[in-house]
Amino acid sequence: MRLAIVSDIHANLEALAVVMDDIRARGLENDIVCLGDVIGYGPDPNACLDIAIDSFRWCLMGNHEEAVLYGAVGFNPKAKMAIDWTRDQLNDASQPAEMRNRRWKFLGELRLTAEEQGLEFAHGSPRDPVREYVFPTDVLDHDKLESIFQHVGRVCFVGHTHLPGVIAASGRFTPPRGDGFSIKLPPPDGEKLLINVGSVGQPRDGDYRACYVVVEDDTVTWHRLDYDVERTVEKIRAVDRLPGYLASRLREGR
Ligand SMILES: [Fe+2]
Repeated sequence: MRLAIVSDIHANLEALAVVMDDIRARGLENDIVCLGDVIGYGPDPNACLDIAIDSFRWCLMGNHEEAVLYGAVGFNPKAKMAIDWTRDQLNDASQPAEMRNRRWKFLGELRLTAEEQGLEFAHGSPRDPVREYVFPTDVLDHDKLESIFQHVGRVCFVGHTHLPGVIAASGRFTPPRGDGFSIKLPPPDGEKLLINVGSVGQPRDGDYRACYVVVEDDTVTWHRLDYDVERTVEKIRAVDRLPGYLASRLREGR
């Protein structure tokens, strides 16, 4: 099995372009899957959607796609501002109608979960695929963890928190230590795992670099890639309707 797993691109074209180059250099360009949140927060929703449509084998529905399609339920006012601006970009009359329709069709056909060769995939959690967060600190919440892992066969890949790492059903969290950190599958002793692939376009683990995962045979590897974060920051600042903290947080990886 060879798979490049990306998630939470959040309309960050500079980060996505660097990740796509890295994936191509590994010969994995026909084996890219995405766990959702291609859009939302960032300045290039249309361009990122076009790459997703042309390059991803499949893509899951993230909460930001759901919000653009059905309304920003549970979003804070600033996140909702970004969703409303994103929806306007998708409806921008200066874009060819064919392109607009293609992007809306893609969003309307996103799947909630996926399964491939014994591996499971969700945006947030296997229990509530689009919206539920599973944070590293949830290893202390035994009831939550037990309930979530009832929905996991063996290994489920997720995104959504933008915090890469491995949550084991037995109550351990292992963060990937830097670029190239890897683990082996299947987990030993019948252990079940939630594997968070991190975020391409808005990492929140204190490392601003784009994050994604490669699965090759029995090895899962996290990759961290430098990108032109200042260019993305400038683009966000140039849009009045995108709150400024969406720019500054990219520099800090928060
Ligand atoms: Fe996200």
